[in-house]
Amino acid sequence: MSRKYFIAGNWKMNKTAAEAVALIESIKEQIGSQEKVEVAVCPTFTSLDAASKALKGSTMKLGAQNMYFEKSGAFTGEISADMLKQFDCSYVILGHSERREYFKECNCLINKKVKAVLENGMKPILCVGEKLEERESGKTLDVVSEQTIKGLEGISGADAEKIVIAYEPVWAIGTGKTATPAMAQEVHAAIRKILADAFGSETAEKIQILYGGSMKPENADALLAEKDIDGGLIGGAALKADSFAALVKSAESAK
Ligand code: PGA
Repeated sequence: MSRKYFIAGNWKMNKTAAEAVALIESIKEQIGSQEKVEVAVCPTFTSLDAASKALKGSTMKLGAQNMYFEKSGAFTGEISADMLKQFDCSYVILGHSERREYFKECNCLINKKVKAVLENGMKPILCVGEKLEERESGKTLDVVSEQTIKGLEGISGADAEKIVIAYEPVWAIGTGKTATPAMAQEVHAAIRKILADAFGSETAEKIQILYGGSMKPENADALLAEKDIDGGLIGGAALKADSFAALVKSAESAK
């Protein structure tokens, strides 16, 4: 497979800067330098500076959990691309279900953010996923396809290659419930088809599609064995070096 596995830690609103550095040091010790698997950690904004310094010389990359699309100005509480670039951020998580739910982010806003991240030379990790009631009423593929298409509206084929998609069923996030490998694969394949329709199959084959939602060392091997699952966006299990390193090892030995 030409796609590299990618394991990204979404630390959410956890860890002070000192704790972030300690976690990074301990992950580095356990995973060493990685050639086969791409690895990134996404701490809070206030830990980016310290995290960036701690990551110097390592193959692990840095990501942020959000970004505003405007360059600068009167947007109290927001963070711009230039501010993230100060810390060599490679990735920005966008459209996470917690942002959609608690901060009312819509596909249109997320699309502006995706474009701004790309314009600034970083890679968006665009999150999509259905809620429990949507799955139960058979709307999973409709919801995921709308979020993917609207999130990527107006993106060129060349830029599409730089995008990472994370399929995160909302009912599986932080709940301990995981989609079965077959359930996840079905949606991942549908997303790849949407990408192929939009950008051509050659491009779609290059785009990493991560699974997220209670992914942990115990279930990672089976998920990563699926054809269209190219890694994981990890919440809870990314907050401990042992479990995060175990997930990187799973990806290293997959397929
Ligand atoms: P979880 O979170 O691994 O704790 O379920 C994943 C995510 O929200 O990105």
